Amino acid sequence: MDFIGVSWAKKESFTMPDMDDVQDGKNFYLGVPAQTNLFFLKGGNSLDWGMKNRLARIFNPATGRSVMLAVDHGYFQGPTTGLERIDVSVVPLIAHADALMITRGALRSCVPAEISKPVVLRCTGGQSILKELSNELVAVDIEDVVRINASAMAVQVYIGGEHEHESIRNLVKIVDAGNRHGIPTLAVTGVGKEMVRDAKYLGLATRICAEMGAHFVKTYYCDKGFEKLTAACPVPVLIAGGKKLPELDALMMAYQATDQGAAGVDMGRNVFQCEAPSAMIQAVRAVVHDRARPEKAYDFYLSLKNDAAKAISTRS
Ligand code: R5P
Repeated sequence: MDFIGVSWAKKESFTMPDMDDVQDGKNFYLGVPAQTNLFFLKGGNSLDWGMKNRLARIFNPATGRSVMLAVDHGYFQGPTTGLERIDVSVVPLIAHADALMITRGALRSCVPAEISKPVVLRCTGGQSILKELSNELVAVDIEDVVRINASAMAVQVYIGGEHEHESIRNLVKIVDAGNRHGIPTLAVTGVGKEMVRDAKYLGLATRICAEMGAHFVKTYYCDKGFEKLTAACPVPVLIAGGKKLPELDALMMAYQATDQGAAGVDMGRNVFQCEAPSAMIQAVRAVVHDRARPEKAYDFYLSLKNDAAKAISTRS
């Protein structure tokens, strides 16, 4: 009689590799207690293994911080300065980022799949700069998030905006879908033109996002009371760069934010609109991960920028 197409006689001659030399275990390290370490990221201790593993790809476990490169601006403002050709201008920067925040369209069309950096996929959209910005919907199916192998999903939340309720509903839907698949959610606190970016407002927005289940939150830096915002947010807070600033000012902002409890930056324009974007992202890394003082990081930026300029002039 056949057994899945193999005769019984033949099957009996099969042996499991380990069955012919079974030995009792010897070293049980009886004096060594099992590891019960806490997870390195704030608020993440009760998460499942897959969720923690994805977060540990985005945040460096050695520093607890992340330098994310945000290049998703085209989802509502089209070909933004510095992002006209993501394949040309952004791809070379990815090596210096801890994670890439991007839309699925730009990812699939412009970024080689060989990159090993984690992707934070923008998952809401549905409006343009010509219309009300808070009018977003969930713009990616969770199946596609899994297919893309994203490490997290990003959702815009507009507290105080015309479509505040719908944006919180988008967050809830995405958190629920992500929880089913072990994929964390980044809530991005979108600020309408009329909103004041102070600690009171930003603190309200970040706390609501965390309470609704976001695993990390992105907001803006504010000069006064930022440390209270980060203290009151039970999950890691990243800052956006905002409008392009002089490089030293942007480095100063990254320094102050991380000094006051931010777990890093998710920076876009202050990197890709720089004269030397590769030098700038490396200087931001020096501030965020190595705690370099802003002035020192700025010198580092200038020296990398000069080296790059020299290399170009030698080639031509
Ligand atoms: C909104 O357009 C996006 O979420 C951006 O990724 C975010 O604003 C960060 O970019 P930036 O540093 O240019 O403000």
